[in-house]
Amino acid sequence: MNSKLVRVGIVGLGSNGVAHLRAHLNSGASEIVAICDRDRNLVEKVGQEYGIRKRYAGDSIFDDQDIDAISINTGDNDHKTPCLKAIAAGKHVFVEKPLANSEDDVREMMDATVRATPGLKIQIGYILRFNPVFEEIHRLSVANTLGRLYIHGG
Ligand SMILES: NC(=O)c1ccc[n+]([C@@H]2O[C@H](COP(=O)([O-])OP(=O)(O)OC[C@H]3O[C@@H](n4cnc5c(N)ncnc54)[C@H](O)[C@@H]3O)[C@@H](O)[C@H]2O)c1
Repeated sequence: MNSKLVRVGIVGLGSNGVAHLRAHLNSGASEIVAICDRDRNLVEKVGQEYGIRKRYAGDSIFDDQDIDAISINTGDNDHKTPCLKAIAAGKHVFVEKPLANSEDDVREMMDATVRATPGLKIQIGYILRFNPVFEEIHRLSVANTLGRLYIHGG
């Protein structure tokens, strides 16, 4: 195990979780230590296909001391519980957008980040923030090059 790599556990193995898994395997910056889905058959299938040895179908993934960061790719309604467990376990967290489907859940998750172990990185997967076109539009708007902006229909 290369200690410079971020050791990642993936929770939720639908098409998006597998896309994240593949991206990590190709990144050279991280390694997939474990995978988890509540569908045991899916965990076994994905584990075999990508050669991931540690396979969880329950919460034990959050206790795995070999994991630095948890990537949460469960459905929109199922982000909160794994997110809170990962933060409580002292893991860095990536959680797919939308963060949650209700304001109460968002607040609960935000509150958990305030109590989180100092230094933890907690990120929501708004990928367009890292899109060069959107980055350029942001740069231009911050530099006030675009004039007064308004939201169509807003
Ligand atoms: N950022 C983007 O561009 C982008 C693109 C596509 C999807 N998404 C988001 O990614 C997330 C996943 O999308 P998807 O299409 O792969 O969803 P999906 O419903 O196909 O897969 C979710 C998987 O999570 C598992 N799961 C649910 N709750 C669980 C739990 N508590 N513990 C373990 N496993 C659990 C389910 O069994 C399922 O296999 C969604 O929130 C979606 O909105 C983001």
